Amino acid sequence: MTRIPATLIAGDGIGPEIMDATLAALDALGAPFEWESAVAGMGGVKAAGDPLPGATLDSIRKTRLALKGPLETPVGGGYRSSNVRLREEFKLYANVRPVSTLIPGGRYDNIDLVLLRENNEGLYMGYEHFIPIDGDPHAVAIATGVNTRKGARNILEYAFEYAIAHGRKRLTVVHKANIMKALTGIFLETAYMMYEEKYKGKILMDDVIIDACAMKLVMNPWQFDTLVTTNLFGDILSDLTAGLVGGLGMAPGGNIGADAAIFEAVHGSAPDIAGKGIANPTALMLAAAMMLDHVKMKDLGDRLRGAISGTLNADNVRTGDLGGKASTKQFTDAIVSRIKNG
Ligand code: NAI
Repeated sequence: MTRIPATLIAGDGIGPEIMDATLAALDALGAPFEWESAVAGMGGVKAAGDPLPGATLDSIRKTRLALKGPLETPVGGGYRSSNVRLREEFKLYANVRPVSTLIPGGRYDNIDLVLLRENNEGLYMGYEHFIPIDGDPHAVAIATGVNTRKGARNILEYAFEYAIAHGRKRLTVVHKANIMKALTGIFLETAYMMYEEKYKGKILMDDVIIDACAMKLVMNPWQFDTLVTTNLFGDILSDLTAGLVGGLGMAPGGNIGADAAIFEAVHGSAPDIAGKGIANPTALMLAAAMMLDHVKMKDLGDRLRGAISGTLNADNVRTGDLGGKASTKQFTDAIVSRIKNG
């Protein structure tokens, strides 16, 4: 089988633990990735004095494909998020975050939602500054959000095409155009323009205001199918949707651009449990399954998803965040043995 070059960033905190687990599963599957290891985030600072070293960027420029663990970002100061920089550098404008129920019988059953988040614009551009007054250096804080017609078109086209290709029924545009009439109004306006131009009759489209959307997702998530929204709203709502299927340990994501893709878990580096060997590697494993789908090896992706589901349900092997007692290693061993024997 031809080997597929790919960059591997284990990441910070629980990153190396869940990455080891995911690599064990990929090895058991015989997934033909030719890994190039690279560092970023706090790992980049420690190894190379840079949260996003040139060698890491060069590797992704070459492979155009990466699997990435979570990267730590200092709060309220320090270096800018390496995740955000990677998404900008490789123009990964679409962040695809699917959630589906893997463990039946929970608070919400039969969840099958896809959230598509614009990944490069909005309030995440980092145009922020303080104005000092009367000796208080932080007397006023100012942030500028930027959404462009082109940026909106890119993610919306991706969302329409994704929804149609995956047999989804309805695309819901999430916005706050009643208040941020320009910043999120442009997104909503572009969606309706594109719907009229090209997508009417192929799929249903509607829209909802972000605050109402959050409430509706909690009260009755089954009323939604596929959601598309701007950067910040997508970041917040995708943690909410992860919560519908058992939490952050269960939610994968793909950052997709025209000529590169980076797959990762939705969650962060979980410093509170790092090094304890108890992290749930499912989200990163599901991200690896999305990566297999992306390189047109859906059969391997399906086998990995099947092994995860079998381990969680038939074997009842679960990590602590899901109410189980298994360590990361015990969970991983169970997955590997399912893949090998399944
Ligand atoms: P977090 O997602 O790391 O953790 C939130 C809570 O969920 C914690 O209680 C944690 O223990 C739990 N959790 C997360 N993943 C888990 C897993 N796989 N298994 C079991 N429990 C899990 O969010 P937090 O604490 O706000 O951020 C920590 C760091 O991660 C920050 O530096 C942040 O900037 C970074 N981060 C990085 C992301 C990325 O690389 N894509 C995404 C989100 C945050």
